[in-house]
Amino acid sequence: MTRPAGTGSEGLPNPHRVGGMTEPVLDIPFADAFQFDPSPTFEELRENRPVARVRTLAGAEVWLVTRYDDVKLVLADPRFSRAAVVKQGAPRVALAKPMPNSLTTTDPPEHTRLRKLVSSTFAHRRIERTRPWVADLSAKLADDVAAAGDGADLRELVALPLPIQVICQLLGVPYGDREQFREWTELGYSMRMAEKDRVEQAMTELTAYIDALVTRKLANTAAPAEDLLDELVRAREEGDRLSHDELISFGVNLLVAGHETSANQISSCVATLLRRPDNWAKLVADHSLVPSAIEELLRFNRFSEVGQLRVATEDIELHGVRIKAGEGVMAALNSANRDPREYENPDDLRLDRKDNKHLSFGFGPHFCLGAQLARIELQESLLALLRRFPQMSLAKPAEELKWRRVLVSGLAELPVNLG
Ligand code: HEM
Repeated sequence: MTRPAGTGSEGLPNPHRVGGMTEPVLDIPFADAFQFDPSPTFEELRENRPVARVRTLAGAEVWLVTRYDDVKLVLADPRFSRAAVVKQGAPRVALAKPMPNSLTTTDPPEHTRLRKLVSSTFAHRRIERTRPWVADLSAKLADDVAAAGDGADLRELVALPLPIQVICQLLGVPYGDREQFREWTELGYSMRMAEKDRVEQAMTELTAYIDALVTRKLANTAAPAEDLLDELVRAREEGDRLSHDELISFGVNLLVAGHETSANQISSCVATLLRRPDNWAKLVADHSLVPSAIEELLRFNRFSEVGQLRVATEDIELHGVRIKAGEGVMAALNSANRDPREYENPDDLRLDRKDNKHLSFGFGPHFCLGAQLARIELQESLLALLRRFPQMSLAKPAEELKWRRVLVSGLAELPVNLG
């Protein structure tokens, strides 16, 4: 699936004209994707070709921006649209078709309306109420790790079950259905062309599942449950409320956006710390460092080898490159997080880094709605492991760990010894 950077699908340079010069079109993900160390290709692009032509696995040619300020511009400037991503003929990055009229595929003012309807449910204070039970759950999962003993796989025992249980609880869906979600959402992030039909079927089944759930909730408003989806069914803003279809897209968005991302980050955070055991020891000795350490790890971890897609709504000139209306532009968050224009020594992991405005949760109107929930999951799972296993270490060298080669990349395994 990965081809050498700078080559076309047949392994030959694939030229594209930029400002009178011929530039190769790079295939993403790059050949240096799916590993811990920073990508030399991103560094080269940031320095020499800040607006580069790339080809997605779905075969679309789009622009890729890699510098911190340009990534922020593409994510927040209304001339770069999310709604246009679902229009006929728009460039495609993933195999799964994005759902139209959802939070992630609308622009202001439609997006502002949807976001307002869900914002109180996701407000910082409301989400903080979940912290005690996320901490309890993390402690129980640490018990499972202790029971498994040396060689326990933290991805299977903590990183995956924690966010799935949290999202099931929040949406009021049976935890017994978790294997089904896992399969649907994994397929939702798939980049294997051979899985195209299964991806479409998975998205249809997931939508039907959420549809049935929303229908049950709407029929049962007399006896409301205590979960977020129920709150959203009842949410109103000045006479406005989410329609049945909007509730379905929102439920799908939450399930897909809210579990694999957190699972990958939990594994990556622990693995990055254990790669240099003095970092683990530092946090064992001082738990008050955990919040800033998590922000630094979010900046440092590689988690998306592509970027967030937008479509230009008018011709835009950037660093001498003319981006034409209708062309796709991807904002490379991983690359922005390592830009030396924004960070002193970006490749150093500093657990107490100050003023860390990383872009791992995005920027602008589409800033991650689940950011606070994700932070709670990351902080509490790490604290539970630090308390329970102060001597924990990797059970195999970090370089030998297997990676999942999907849109939201991450480790496929995390075997540890408990000390
Ligand atoms: C560490 C874990 C997570 C990371 C790194 C992450 C990252 C992101 C990023 C980068 C975006 C912006 C996408 C764009 O601009 O195109 C986003 C949006 C979003 N995220 Fe997250 N996310 C995480 C966890 C969660 C969780 C736990 C939930 C829900 C429970 C969630 C729900 C959403 C939603 C609904 C959006 C769309 C917001 C909008 O379009 O207005 N995310 N996330």
